[in-house]
Amino acid sequence: MRKRSTDPVAIVHRYVLVATIAVAFFMKNVGAQAPPTYYGQVQAIVNKNCVQCHRPNGGAPFPLLSYKQVAERASFIAHVTKERFMPPWFADPAYRTFHNQTVLTDTEIAVLQQWAAAGAPAGNANEKAASFEKNMAAKYPKPDLTVLMQRPFEIPGNNTEQFRIFILPTDQMEERYVQGIRFRPSNLLLAHHARLMLDTTQLLRPDDGSVAGDTATAFTRLGVRLASLYWNGWVPGNMGEHYPSGFGKKLPAKADIVLNMHYSPSPVSATDRSSVEIWYTPQKPERIVKPFILDENWVVNQPFFIPADTVVSFFMRSPPVPTDISLLSIMPHMHLLGKRFKAYALTPDGDIILLIKIDRWNFKWQLSYQFEHLVKLPKGSVVYAEAEFDNTAANPFNPSNPPREATYGWGTTNEMFNLIMEYVDYKTGDETLSLFQEN
Ligand code: HEC
Repeated sequence: MRKRSTDPVAIVHRYVLVATIAVAFFMKNVGAQAPPTYYGQVQAIVNKNCVQCHRPNGGAPFPLLSYKQVAERASFIAHVTKERFMPPWFADPAYRTFHNQTVLTDTEIAVLQQWAAAGAPAGNANEKAASFEKNMAAKYPKPDLTVLMQRPFEIPGNNTEQFRIFILPTDQMEERYVQGIRFRPSNLLLAHHARLMLDTTQLLRPDDGSVAGDTATAFTRLGVRLASLYWNGWVPGNMGEHYPSGFGKKLPAKADIVLNMHYSPSPVSATDRSSVEIWYTPQKPERIVKPFILDENWVVNQPFFIPADTVVSFFMRSPPVPTDISLLSIMPHMHLLGKRFKAYALTPDGDIILLIKIDRWNFKWQLSYQFEHLVKLPKGSVVYAEAEFDNTAANPFNPSNPPREATYGWGTTNEMFNLIMEYVDYKTGDETLSLFQEN
């Protein structure tokens, strides 16, 4: 070991050196402490991660488009981003990343903290980032078909969440293929999420406006086999699905759109009359986007029943996929007792393909996660999913207080365990194909 010198000159040298380093360090920190500004750093973060929802008609309660709008909420923003409550994103990026991912980096979160702490300085307006509105060119032409809710729905002003079914007849006598689908809520303040399905029996028409999961509905009573259990989904910020040419989804003849709608609680009554915009493909597309849905029937540890005051996990296993397929997107679905969700596939060669992992399920955000590139599942692959449900009083979202037993059902006091994937038949090169355009 090298001994420390006791020579006085060396000691002085050492102090000078230490002092120089300390001063340099101090100076550097003083430099770093010049706070971030709105135009310098903050606006770019907000434009990339927030304004798709936080703009007029974007679904969030207030816009974040101007310096003033952001600055007056600076500490609120610092708080919700630090808690990772905003932007809403729930899939674990260490398991798989997605095309439509909005996750702030630790640095971005720190910038928002420092900016709020410094009193939200504006900075130099010349550094202004390009506005969202400008970036979002009017890309889509007029839709070929707009299907409107049959009548306006009065959302009661009783401070309770509303889960409703609406039936929107398309009145199309021919089978068609669609390249684009866009759900347009008319009451963006209260519309929280929507799931669109298709029925060709017309037997569900009396259900228009009824409470989802109600035992009196034809939906629950008749056990109708829907033509599509999942055709499209919407949450705030979603601009619709628009496939590249050659891809499309089927719209069967005489289909009714079955809209499963969730409205946020409201203290005053309000109306909604949402619509669905549809763009047709010029001809039958070469590649048809189809749903691959695993539901409670595929649970291996039946029965799907969650006793009160228990935390239970269920496991699901798909049949082997019959041909090579390419996945476009994946969407887990549970209700308020859901806590965790994980899905992966096992190929016949024993490879594991990680699909999605959510450790903090949030029922309010029924997101569809878009793969960055198509994900090939070779023929014979099996998809596995695991979900944990917390039916104790410790679950702050538990809809029953005290907890009550829950089983399968569309109402929110019951539970669901679905894994909804969308796929096309595999083609060479799909592994590098990115299907989703920038919104
Ligand atoms: C996908 C749409 C979406 C994105 C992206 C998004 N928000 Fe939100 N935000 C919402 C909605 C909707 C609400 C209303 C609360 C709710 O429904 O959970 C909200 C609420 C908020 C609130 C109020 C929270 C409260 O407790 O009332 C703040 C603050 C906020 N957002 C900031 C942000 C910031 C900052 C970003 C970007 C870093 C962002 N949001 C990104 C949709 C979004």
